[in-house]
Amino acid sequence: MIPRDFIQTLLGRVDIVDTIERYVPLKKAGVNYVARCPFHSEKTPSFSVNPARQFYYCFGCGASGTALGFIMEYTGAGFVEAVHELAQQVGLEVPVEAASGAVRQEARLDLAEILRRAADYFRAELKASPAAIQYLKQRGLTGAIAARFGLGYAPPGWRNLAKAFPDYEMPSLVEAGLVIAGEEGKRYDRFRDRVMFPILDSRGEVIGFGGRVIGVGEPKYLNSPETPLFEKGRELYGLAQARRAIRDHQRVVVVEGYMDVVALAQAGVENAVATLGTATSAIHVQKLLRMADTVVFAFDGDQAGRNAAQRALEVALPYLADGKQVSFLFLPEGEDPDTYVRGQGAEAFAQQLRQATPASEFLLEVLTRGVEMTRAEGRARFLQAAQQRLSQITAPALSLLLRNRVATLAQVTPTDLEHLMGRAPVAGSSQRSQSVAERAAPSSLSARLLACLLHYPELARIEGVPGDDAVLPDELALQHVADFIRHQEPPGTLAGILEHFRGLPEASHLQQALRREFPALESSPTEQLQEIYREGLGRLSAMAHKRAGKALLDKARVQPLSPEEAQRLQELTLGKPAK
Ligand code: UTP
Ligand code: MN
Repeated sequence: MIPRDFIQTLLGRVDIVDTIERYVPLKKAGVNYVARCPFHSEKTPSFSVNPARQFYYCFGCGASGTALGFIMEYTGAGFVEAVHELAQQVGLEVPVEAASGAVRQEARLDLAEILRRAADYFRAELKASPAAIQYLKQRGLTGAIAARFGLGYAPPGWRNLAKAFPDYEMPSLVEAGLVIAGEEGKRYDRFRDRVMFPILDSRGEVIGFGGRVIGVGEPKYLNSPETPLFEKGRELYGLAQARRAIRDHQRVVVVEGYMDVVALAQAGVENAVATLGTATSAIHVQKLLRMADTVVFAFDGDQAGRNAAQRALEVALPYLADGKQVSFLFLPEGEDPDTYVRGQGAEAFAQQLRQATPASEFLLEVLTRGVEMTRAEGRARFLQAAQQRLSQITAPALSLLLRNRVATLAQVTPTDLEHLMGRAPVAGSSQRSQSVAERAAPSSLSARLLACLLHYPELARIEGVPGDDAVLPDELALQHVADFIRHQEPPGTLAGILEHFRGLPEASHLQQALRREFPALESSPTEQLQEIYREGLGRLSAMAHKRAGKALLDKARVQPLSPEEAQRLQELTLGKPAK
């Protein structure tokens, strides 16, 4: 766990302009800095960074957040990883709360250094091994691509790493997965006579290796075991090298093998990554969809590939969003992306990508496969399976379209389908669409006041935020934000507020409030804005009092009020201000 305090300290040290500048060139424009938005493609810059608020906002696509949020969005890093990256940028050490954590932190640095040194050693050995070079050449790779992926070679022999690590006995070599401690404490290298593929994290640090035999042999690939640095279900091979191309194309291709990634890059397809011999995980899917609008899974054209695709589909369903596209490419039987691109060329592969099957199509195909759709029993089975999958899809438009397709295929009406899925057809759907509309355009007074307060935290000095009477989520968010700002020393920025509430129930209300158009150009609130805010709080409190009074009256009709409640009711109806 990273202490919450540290996040505030970190944000106090960081300048969001410097941070974003590392990834996207910014131009000064008045009080803001602007760029073409890295999160959607556009010709004129609508991405703006405000140093006073330590906040970025895109007027084109609505992307917004703090320096920390930017790193997560841009690099696909998780929260902890982004905190480490940001801390490193400003030279702060991330404290750890638990003692065991402190030990792990120590180990983490150690392992990183060891893996880096091992990668250097393997690279040097590749240069010295004509056989390994010959193998890579014969697989169509140039020296430039080998260098780009940091490919190396672990020579035959049992203790070669002793050349790179004079203290071969140190436990961290075992922990790093490079050395195996056998019986009677005999130690030896894990990787022997293999071409080495370093696996990098999103910062470009080596976290593990995959090693391939030269020619035939078992196992074909040997991988680093999981270590404190390396978790297979989180990482994607080739991501560090592919990031720029993924951003530029807003498309990422997910393949199965190390060699597929490298061969595609060799052919000029630079936006490919691979899972690490594991099934696609939810974390993978989330990472990929954060980075690109389109994710294409390109699996081998065999049964194993089809199974892997089906698993990826199941994992992806809950993360599908309208405006994002996930599709599946099945290569001809016996081909993988490596053989295909070498045989047919990059243009043919690109053509295959364009023809990939959308997730919705693939889902229907999976659901109808082996089902006799001409018989009622078959369609009933189909409906049952479909229902389960559909309930996982939250993207509103996609879900609607799919429900209609499913209804048509099952020869029932959409209304029947809604009934089957346990939804009240008419009232339910109109209620749902209303709440979607509300979410898109928050217009309540409290949401507007919250937007003012977020952009100008100084407004927290103004009294009158509804206290005990606040019950609506927006009102509570306003109250909590005002409280937080009052207790901050020194007064925080918008970024500090956002990070404080990250992951808490208030967060979504803050996001909504920030989605409003807000001409936040001044560095401090004008007299006029202060007046608007004060007056708004007055109205909000009046509304809250009225509501509280009515609630007490309603209650009094069915049961006696406690003395405190009676007193409160009297205050409220006599128009006395709340305490
Ligand atoms: P493939 O067998 O499809 O490998 O396994 P590939 O990339 O096409 O290999 P080449 O072209 O023969 O060199 C796909 C992935 O599964 C994992 C590796 O991550 C590999 O890249 N794998 C495969 C292993 O971990 N161990 C194995 O023995 C085989
Ligand atoms: Mn292959």
